[in-house]
Amino acid sequence: MKKIIVVIGLLLAPGVAGAATLEALLAGYRSEGAGPFLAERGAELLLREIPGATEGTSCAACHTRDPKQSGRHVKTGKPIEPLAPAVNPERFTDPAKVEKWFLRNCKGTLGRVCTPQEKGDFLQFLSTLR
Ligand code: HEC
Repeated sequence: MKKIIVVIGLLLAPGVAGAATLEALLAGYRSEGAGPFLAERGAELLLREIPGATEGTSCAACHTRDPKQSGRHVKTGKPIEPLAPAVNPERFTDPAKVEKWFLRNCKGTLGRVCTPQEKGDFLQFLSTLR
């Protein structure tokens, strides 16, 4: 019973809504066979250079090498808010948005969808930034 009350409390508290969504996303990737998730591998994915990518030659091309900084779309020049939830609490509060952009950005950068492992590592990395 106590546990249930804690969970409801977490869901209602505004600041931790993102944290709850992030945990749910990671749990989803685990249920697909991925995990444990390593922040270092997520950091590596951000910087990985992919020659011949159609959209950006790395995730960092649009999101910068520091997810706490605002990025800029390499093609349109449109600003992109920081990915790190520590500085942008809007991040990872909407699972549909997360999956939509993973799909689009992984295809545009890596030329394929990201695996549940890659997505989990990436979110793990972003969530460790303070
Ligand atoms: C061509 C530019 C570009 C590249 C390259 C790019 N992204 Fe993005 N990304 C965007 C834009 C634009 C958005 C949506 C706008 C926003 O959320 O601020 C976005 C959003 C996201 C989101 C959604 C965050 C949320 O709030 O739900 C994730 C996750 C993400 N990108 C991961 C990646 C990863 C991983 C890579 C590399 C495999 C990558 N991106 C490469 C432009 C890019």
